[in-house]
Amino acid sequence: MDFQGKTVIVTGGASGMGLLSGQNFFDRGANVVLCDCDEEGLRRVQASFADTEGRLLALGCDVRRFAQVRAAVERTVKTFGSLDVMINCAGGNSCRIFGCWDEFCDLPIEQVQWGFEVNLMGTVYFCHEAMRQMKGQKSGAIVNFGSITGIEGDICGLDYAASKSAIMNGLNKSLAKEGAPYGVRVNCIAPGPVLTRPGMASMKTALGRAADPQEIVDMVLYLASEESSFVTGTTILMDGGRHLLMNG
Ligand SMILES: NC(=O)c1ccc[n+]([C@@H]2O[C@H](COP(=O)([O-])OP(=O)(O)OC[C@H]3O[C@@H](n4cnc5c(N)ncnc54)[C@H](O)[C@@H]3O)[C@@H](O)[C@H]2O)c1
Repeated sequence: MDFQGKTVIVTGGASGMGLLSGQNFFDRGANVVLCDCDEEGLRRVQASFADTEGRLLALGCDVRRFAQVRAAVERTVKTFGSLDVMINCAGGNSCRIFGCWDEFCDLPIEQVQWGFEVNLMGTVYFCHEAMRQMKGQKSGAIVNFGSITGIEGDICGLDYAASKSAIMNGLNKSLAKEGAPYGVRVNCIAPGPVLTRPGMASMKTALGRAADPQEIVDMVLYLASEESSFVTGTTILMDGGRHLLMNG
């Protein structure tokens, strides 16, 4: 898949699948904008590129802050002239981030709020800005990140499960309907366990293993490319068959 001349924003671009997606797009010729609140991480990533050829922008951006999101999209378009692909990868389970695994009613409400803001509102904000730009261009592809947890629910991390569920369903389908007349496609990937951290290996799947991050990123590339030109409004479940175990 060739992304020469295309401009891609990836949120959560300082680590994990966001970073790997950014590297894959860069290797295929795209202009790549990595957005993350981890500015130290972004500096390390930028330094790891031998030659960015003027095709890499690393932007400190907290996806919970709409003004920062708007500024990131504006800077992208000003620098590269378009926004062709939007990958909303920033996210995380608030229980892991805050180190507090209490049940919902016992959680500090600030933790719950963080979970909704990063996972749901961060995606909403970037979709808001990207969609307007893409409708104007009459082309574009948005790829959002859900999770198997959005299907299963979870006692630890209601905010994560609810956010991912909203992204996979109402947000994905509504945006796909809005974008379709303008040639803008919107899709979602819902991974099961992915080895961006070793702990994910303990989550059961029918295949008996967690995913290598590249297996998920290959789908990101496909959904962002012309090869998937007839695919929109879909959530691709990539869980190694974990959902089969739920059904016995
Ligand atoms: N790893 C898994 O097993 C798994 C499973 C299902 C879904 N997912 C989803 O896939 C996506 C990527 O997961 P990963 O494991 O690669 O994540 P990761 O933890 O490696 O990376 C997440 C990135 O998001 C950034 N981030 C967090 N809060 C932010 C904010 N407010 N503003 C900007 N950036 C912020 C972090 O700094 C980090 O660089 C996430 O949306 C995650 O929920 C992951």
